[in-house]
Amino acid sequence: MTTAPDVVLSESAPAATRDSVLRGLRGKPRTLSPTLFYDEVGSALFERITTLEEYYLTRAELEILRAHVHEIATLAGPRCALIEYGSGSGTKVRLLLDALQSPAAYTPIDVSTAQLARVAAEIAADYPAVAVRPVNADYSASFEVPDLPTRARRVAFFPGSTIGNFHPTEAAAFLRRVRRVVASDGALILGVDRRKDPRALLAAYDDSEGVTAAFNRNILARLNREMGASFDPAQFRHRAEWNDAESRIEMHLESTEPQTVRVSGESISFERGESIWTESSYKYDRERLDRLIEEGGFQLARLWTDSAERFWVAFLTG
Ligand code: TRP
Repeated sequence: MTTAPDVVLSESAPAATRDSVLRGLRGKPRTLSPTLFYDEVGSALFERITTLEEYYLTRAELEILRAHVHEIATLAGPRCALIEYGSGSGTKVRLLLDALQSPAAYTPIDVSTAQLARVAAEIAADYPAVAVRPVNADYSASFEVPDLPTRARRVAFFPGSTIGNFHPTEAAAFLRRVRRVVASDGALILGVDRRKDPRALLAAYDDSEGVTAAFNRNILARLNREMGASFDPAQFRHRAEWNDAESRIEMHLESTEPQTVRVSGESISFERGESIWTESSYKYDRERLDRLIEEGGFQLARLWTDSAERFWVAFLTG
């Protein structure tokens, strides 16, 4: 019998904190932290997004990983300690764990508490030689890396174009923190979505089945569940917009009526058409990518794309 690995709960608790939620909702523009998307319901909805025809990102990234996993394994080297930022359902990392030469350790980091515990237990059971050390944290804040085999080369894995959910300045700062975690002999395997026809981008973030809309609105339902807020999610419309100058998709929840919502003892009023900005997804061209890598303190060792040239996977060294 295998026992489930203990989940290290980081100081930067991923729960909805009253102060941060209210600060975001009082602001102009009104915002909510994207980490709030990933409760149990939200994580399940996101898994559905990754299977949608319009959401090409996951398929494109998996195509690249499958095509080049042996080269990735060679570049990573034997007995490495893999650290995954945002492990989600743990599907992609299995490709790496299957190809890597005797990986020593795997540290999945995720805000989604239950999903993380489940994935860590499954991976520990399927890869008994790998020391699985999950961390439940918001990795955009600082967190403690658990004890890893001391001599193992640290290889970070940051797939899904989640780097695109940071403002480019924050993205570079984040890469510098990853660089400190993996040290100068470490590496980072990074998934990045490419700039392309805005129509394809908009479809990916506003699918015909409305799964992305449900995912976006779930953030309001979560605030109702966890903070006793009084949002009527039906009175907020999901809106995705392409901002070409900033090279990003913006996700909004737009109030369809003038309305006042109670959130943890406070009243927040919305005009009709006023929105809560919940997420951005920056899209990279080569120039922007090179700048990010350089400002992040990494060097580009290899860059792969998929057959339709929609997505990149980069192997970066410290
Ligand atoms: N990292 C994903 C992306 O930018 C996250 C994501 C996908 C997302 N669809 C979304 C975030 C819809 C908010 C709303 O592609």
